[in-house]
Amino acid sequence: MYRTHYSGQITEELNNQKIRVAGWVHEVKDLGGIKFLWIRDREGIVQVTAPKKKVSEEVFNLIPSLHNEDVVSVEGIVNFTPKARLGFELIPEKIILLSKAETPLPLDPTGKVKAELDTRLDNRFMDLRRPEIMAIFKIRSSTFRAVRDFFHNEGFVEIHTPKIIATATEGGTELFPMKYFEKDAFLAQSPQLYKQIMMASGLDRVFEIAPIFRAEEHNTTRHLNEAWSIDGEMAFIEDEDEVMKLLEHLITYAVNYVRENNEKELQTLGFELEEPKLPFRRVTYTEALEILRDLGKEISWGEDIDTEGEKLLGQYIKENYDEDLYFIYQYPSSAKPFYIMRYDNKPEISRSFDLEYRGIEITSGGQREHRYEKLKAQIAEQGLNVESFDFYLKAFRYGMPPHGGFGLGAERLIKQMLNLGNIREVMLFPRDRRRLEP
Ligand code: 4AD
Repeated sequence: MYRTHYSGQITEELNNQKIRVAGWVHEVKDLGGIKFLWIRDREGIVQVTAPKKKVSEEVFNLIPSLHNEDVVSVEGIVNFTPKARLGFELIPEKIILLSKAETPLPLDPTGKVKAELDTRLDNRFMDLRRPEIMAIFKIRSSTFRAVRDFFHNEGFVEIHTPKIIATATEGGTELFPMKYFEKDAFLAQSPQLYKQIMMASGLDRVFEIAPIFRAEEHNTTRHLNEAWSIDGEMAFIEDEDEVMKLLEHLITYAVNYVRENNEKELQTLGFELEEPKLPFRRVTYTEALEILRDLGKEISWGEDIDTEGEKLLGQYIKENYDEDLYFIYQYPSSAKPFYIMRYDNKPEISRSFDLEYRGIEITSGGQREHRYEKLKAQIAEQGLNVESFDFYLKAFRYGMPPHGGFGLGAERLIKQMLNLGNIREVMLFPRDRRRLEP
């Protein structure tokens, strides 16, 4: 065993005991009669101190030959002393060089030499050796764990739907076409149609966490071509507010989970993550347009609220109510996909919502149209070919309960939670208009 303890597990109880640590060489210092080595693992750094009189000749001579990012395992005795930078050191008995690192390094893993995001992404394996970057991905891991916990606690069943599909779910644009033997197929933009079909199965409450594929032509700081979607769908709801309530509790659970379990990572990022305030503010689309008009931005009723509008609204809500999370709901039916239900008494308004986090949409959702004839009419109205939805519509003919749900972009959630400038920061190997490797 090359490692008995991570750096973060070395406590005073281990004083004078023999342990093994393993990791990457962070720094080497040769002061003649005493040599130092700092080793980095995923939890921090360990100082190895080698005074000539206390260690073997072999160990003493090996240390100065090591270079940054070489991989080593060190066996030694723990010594707690105020003289050491971190309050303790390891007096080495054995050092094993497990792998040499070439020089020069493609990236400075200490982050002291700043690199462009593109260079960092080209060398992601080394980028992650910086504690701030690793912190982001530990928080990402916690977020996914929290989301899964929440769904299970709320009685949701995890499902997995196909990613090679025959029909567009979110409209015809942004599709990646592919050849499926002699047929044309697409990569799934969303599990939308399949998660709804599952409603007719009797599972009642389902969720899926899986990639979605969007052929976004433009490079922006909030779009990826491959993203992870957290989808929930629930049956027997009376209105869209039931979905909004579940979603606000999901977000609150995830944010609080990160606050409680990633204190160290948040500290490394120098970021204070605020507890969300329940319930989240609900602003209708029409009210949002009025607020924007007062702020000098005109959007005509029926149009989408653009990036600038979202940002202005986010600032307005922050300044006036000190809130980061809020819903915009009751969008015009024309601005939403065919599967969203409309108010029977006001068909120009839909039972839909977006959830905004610091002025950026992280989720969209709503109540679905479950009545077969109405749904068919809405598909036709949007200029789509009704026949290509046969497999989907069939599920609505044999007992489909009222239902609703949402799609939550995992990267958008994590980016906005940590207030990061670019969505690529939270994706290990982002896919964008230009990037297909690594
Ligand atoms: O708003 P969208 O397209 O809605 C749907 O996919 C619906 N089927 C959801 C539903 O259940 N009604 O996507 C949902 C979320 C967005 O709010 C965003 O967070 C994320 O998915 N998303 C993207 N994230 C990164 N890059 C992209 N290109 C994204 N496209 C959507």
